[in-house]
Amino acid sequence: MRMDVCQTVRRITGRKGRCIVQMVEIIRRKRDGETLPKAVWQYLIDGVVRGEIPDYQVSAFLMAIYFQGMNAEETVYLTEAMWHSGEVLDLSSIPGIKVDKHSTGGVGDKTTLIALPLAAACGVPIAKMSGRGLGHTGGTIDKLEAIPGFQTTLSKNDFLKQVREIGLAVVGQSEGLVPADKALYALRDVTATVESIPLIASSIMSKKLASGADAIVLDVKVGRGAFMPTLERARALAQAMIAIGERVGRKVHVLLTDMDEPLGRDVGNANEVKEAIEVLSGGGDKRLVDLTVAVAARMVLAAGGAGSDEEAREKVLTCRENGSALLKFEALIRAQGGDIRVIREPERFLPAARYEEEIRAERDGWVKAIDARLVGEAAMLSGAGRETKAKAIDLAAGIHLERLRGERVRAGEVLARLFAGSRPIPQVAVERLAEAFTIGDRAQDEKPLIYDIIDASSP
Ligand code: URA
Repeated sequence: MRMDVCQTVRRITGRKGRCIVQMVEIIRRKRDGETLPKAVWQYLIDGVVRGEIPDYQVSAFLMAIYFQGMNAEETVYLTEAMWHSGEVLDLSSIPGIKVDKHSTGGVGDKTTLIALPLAAACGVPIAKMSGRGLGHTGGTIDKLEAIPGFQTTLSKNDFLKQVREIGLAVVGQSEGLVPADKALYALRDVTATVESIPLIASSIMSKKLASGADAIVLDVKVGRGAFMPTLERARALAQAMIAIGERVGRKVHVLLTDMDEPLGRDVGNANEVKEAIEVLSGGGDKRLVDLTVAVAARMVLAAGGAGSDEEAREKVLTCRENGSALLKFEALIRAQGGDIRVIREPERFLPAARYEEEIRAERDGWVKAIDARLVGEAAMLSGAGRETKAKAIDLAAGIHLERLRGERVRAGEVLARLFAGSRPIPQVAVERLAEAFTIGDRAQDEKPLIYDIIDASSP
């Protein structure tokens, strides 16, 4: 197979010789805007995973893609090569249509902790691999690890068995999954080539495809706290991922949702678990409830558990109201070794903060904006997140927003609190959080939360 790919690439480039020679020609062609055939993408990914292509050539190639783009076919070829670059999970032993969910990352984004139990309580089988937080955005695995005893690593057999038994399992992404993405992302990160739509689409989709689900619900975040700053670019990314799904026979549904401001009132780890429990218990901030219900409803629809969006929504709301979604979350915690007492007494059994700071309004008015990125950075600086992958985090650290956008505030009232468990909160975190708030003179119109929901059948 590899010999075939090498020979084909030599034929395509018209050059004899080693990888380095082939790569010069491949880079040149992409640089000049040519479309590259399937064999070249396979060759590239093989070479990256085996460490045969020097970083400087891969970097140059990524920059050529950044400027010249890739067409839909090339994006599929790259995705397919990445998807099969390592371990691929087989979920066929789990009955039913398995649905995965992914968010492009945000601040206060505890959607997975809520939407998955909601959808699983409606009968959707979910085998989910999640990531850790990086920079100003959080990650589900860190949040789950705030629950004492919760194991985020399971053997493949135990992972599948748990989904067969309780319909839901959430673990950290296996090391062996899509090694090509790890290598490419590390280079994109240091060569200013992350913000390329075909590269993001193939990176996300290859991991979702390798995780084995039949259908995928993607929450693409838009705004200040997100990867995609504009709705136009977020829509282009959504369409690229839906197109990949169509080509490889997976249904992809995308919600385009706001991330100008944080989601819900809590940003951190232990405090986000507490907020998730509040929503599953029937309470919580309206925007957070609306989004998690919408995501779960799409998962139910994708699994064939409802004939329309409305029916799916009704089912999800029933599972929230009758307590079955909260019971599903409890079953998940129990199955993965966590302390289920957090469900009834989160304040007592989740990691507790020892340090606290608050920021107060300097004037009367209405909260006009809360900059999600600045809030995420303040949370990270207080210990809730990590600047680099290797850093440890403080699970008790975080932020609680006492006021959300559109709410009235008087001078001197608390706008937000910062917490930390292991070390005092640095002044820079307090300042960053204060900077995130804009107070205006008038009440604000409500801002859209869900801009659009699209899938392959959307016009
Ligand atoms: N998330 C990913 O998994 N990959 C990207 O390239 C960007 C965001």
